[in-house]
Amino acid sequence: MRALGQDYRSIFVDEDGLGVVIIDQTALPHAFETRRLIGLDDAVTAIADMWVRGAPLVGVTAAYGVALAMLADDSDAALHEACERLAGARPTAVNLAWAVEEMHRLLAPLAPFERAKAAYAAASVIAEEDVVNNAAIGDHGLALIKEIAARKGGVVNIMTHCNAGWLATVDWGTATAPIYKAHEAGVPLHVWVSETRPRNQGAFLTAWELGQHGVPHTLIVDNSAGHLMQLGEVDLIIVGADRITAQGDVCNKIGTYLKALAAHDNGVPFYVAAPSPSIDFALREGSDIPIETRSAREVTHMAGRTESGDLATIRLSPEGTDALNYGFDVTPARLVSGLITERGVIAATEEALAAAFPERVTG
Ligand code: MRU
Repeated sequence: MRALGQDYRSIFVDEDGLGVVIIDQTALPHAFETRRLIGLDDAVTAIADMWVRGAPLVGVTAAYGVALAMLADDSDAALHEACERLAGARPTAVNLAWAVEEMHRLLAPLAPFERAKAAYAAASVIAEEDVVNNAAIGDHGLALIKEIAARKGGVVNIMTHCNAGWLATVDWGTATAPIYKAHEAGVPLHVWVSETRPRNQGAFLTAWELGQHGVPHTLIVDNSAGHLMQLGEVDLIIVGADRITAQGDVCNKIGTYLKALAAHDNGVPFYVAAPSPSIDFALREGSDIPIETRSAREVTHMAGRTESGDLATIRLSPEGTDALNYGFDVTPARLVSGLITERGVIAATEEALAAAFPERVTG
């Protein structure tokens, strides 16, 4: 998608065919910086410290991380260690475990000397699949947006949460794919971007992304979401997912559940856009999903650009204040109007998920 007037992907292999280049998302929106990952340590740090983030992108980064590790050491022990370290870098998004398992399944039976080349090829297949999946999600979601536009007439107001945009995937995004497709198709729309405290992925990343594409949007504080729904200013909510269970419970960025509750109370359609690697058929109950807890400092401090143009981190709360920082919450399936997947818009139920992805059902 577009960044600084050019077509970009969030991750790609450098011209030498070895280094893996990512956009450092901790620098956005104040600076657009790329980084070249040169080894396993870099890949683990990129995921854990959120230079890259978003469920599909952490999966793809992990896949390339395995390839980087195999360049340095292609032994069984090195493959095992790389997979373990990468899978453990963040706990909640199932795409990470899924991508690492895929890489291990493909590489383990190979002779060590074959592994590095095969790993780059396999990682690029996972990356390309993500692009194809998201484009399909965009087409299915576009139909939903067009339906609302036809019924309503005028501008369709879509609310999203966190960043489930192209920065969170390889390209297109999940929640944003239908938005970009609708914008390109000339459907008049406007996006409510919730800031997504404490890391502000909405304010920092989604607002930047939509701005780069010229998609009309307005930033709101997370606490405005329910009020806007009561005012009738939200026609549709589309969020992403870090893990969807076999029965359709959706784990996504903290605050998603509150939006779903308010949407339910106000009759606003609440859709979750996600590719199949975000579905965990091995888990039924959302309450079984491991929820990442991050540093209290993300709550007590905030980084930004001062009016004089410097970047600065400031403390918000009194010194010594304790803070709790859950990264994700679970929205029960009953609050989800539908799942926008690469195979169409389906109900958030065990039956619909199993029917849409029979090859993934574990038994
Ligand atoms: O902590 P983050 O920024 O990795 O969380 C990202 C989200 O919660 C996204 O909504 C989710 O990964 C879907 S991304 C297409």
